[in-house]
Amino acid sequence: MDDTTTGPARRSVLCGLAVGLLAPGVLAACGTSPATNTGTTSTGTGKPGDQVAALADVPVGGGLLVNMAGNGRLLVVRPTDNEVRAYNPTCPHLGSTVSPPAGGVITCPTHGSQFDPATGAVRKGPATTGLTEVKVRVDGDRVLLV
Ligand code: FES
Repeated sequence: MDDTTTGPARRSVLCGLAVGLLAPGVLAACGTSPATNTGTTSTGTGKPGDQVAALADVPVGGGLLVNMAGNGRLLVVRPTDNEVRAYNPTCPHLGSTVSPPAGGVITCPTHGSQFDPATGAVRKGPATTGLTEVKVRVDGDRVLLV
């Protein structure tokens, strides 16, 4: 018997099984339930002075999707150690939620638009406008709405 012909078939079955087992989790992660969201929940009501994140939870060069009171979300990013910004994470192309920065760029997973984490400006379409900034400031170890 030649094992080289059964190896790939066996791998396909295992991969299919893995997808089948992971699918419920993947689907749950795509849902809108706050319990499955990867962001944190703001304790505030969306008013000036409300904390939206702990500074330590916003990685330098990355960011964090935050669930605000109500159904709003906020993308808090930290382009450099001393610089924190926040944007409405709704992609201006067709409304998907953009991902926190990776590799120096904010990317929309739906059609690949890319945005500058420091300004929210478009780097690559199909989006033609940038992300809408939400003013925040750092107060000690907290990121607050302005
Ligand atoms: S919805 Fe974001 S690029 Fe299309």
